[in-house]
Amino acid sequence: MSTTTSNHHPLIIAHRGASAFAPENTMAAFRLAKELGAEGIELDVMLSADQKLVVHHDNSVNRTTDGKGKVAEMTWDELKDLDAGSKFGEEFSGEPLPLLEQVFEELGRKLLINVELKNYASPRDRLTEMVVDLVKRMELEESVLLSSFNAKNLLRAYRAAPEIRRGLLTLPGLAGSLYRGWYGKRFQYDALHPHYPDVRPKMVEKLHKHGKQINVWTVDEPEDLRRMKAYQVDSVICNDPAQARQVLETP
Ligand code: G3P
Ligand code: MG
Repeated sequence: MSTTTSNHHPLIIAHRGASAFAPENTMAAFRLAKELGAEGIELDVMLSADQKLVVHHDNSVNRTTDGKGKVAEMTWDELKDLDAGSKFGEEFSGEPLPLLEQVFEELGRKLLINVELKNYASPRDRLTEMVVDLVKRMELEESVLLSSFNAKNLLRAYRAAPEIRRGLLTLPGLAGSLYRGWYGKRFQYDALHPHYPDVRPKMVEKLHKHGKQINVWTVDEPEDLRRMKAYQVDSVICNDPAQARQVLETP
């Protein structure tokens, strides 16, 4: 008798946390993602001026916080008291930017954590090595998945700790086609992370045949979620994990 369930569905990874309902890349969004049934969270990380691993998406803090300036030019002392919640909603007032270590500490053994290495403005910095060191120090090799659009970060991670899984993010459409094809393979990824409209059933089949996974971003429309499930992708990165769960669990 087969033990496979008929309604197997992709893992649900909450993009910047449950960012449809809480300020992106904050502990509030990560905790909510877990409550809403996500199996993982995706977050972005970059270095502050004093080399702290700050969880944040944009180069500057202007869009999401009450501060102004670039993360890379600010110290943690300047960043730690910024309000990263009020712009999303008054109920999140005072919600701080987290350090990667804080996220790992609280959720590292409870969720898959997809860490996007976001040093696109400073590709030669030590972000990759510092994240790898932290993962090793906290013994989270099993529950962290690194990813980046900068494929060289994956090679650096592979050299430092091949046991930590790596996902290659690819740009939408033509811009990412080279990396989705033969050229991307040289970067030693364990999973391909394409934009979901670029995914075709043959691509999924081929990756699986070569022992690689495919995790797609950022999927929020029910019909797209259903299509990705039918294609048998391994994970969907989404802003609304509650909806994703409801859609994907419906046979
Ligand atoms: O990991 C997928 C997604 O996070 C990539 O784009 O800009 O939302 O970090 P972005
Ligand atoms: Mg990201």
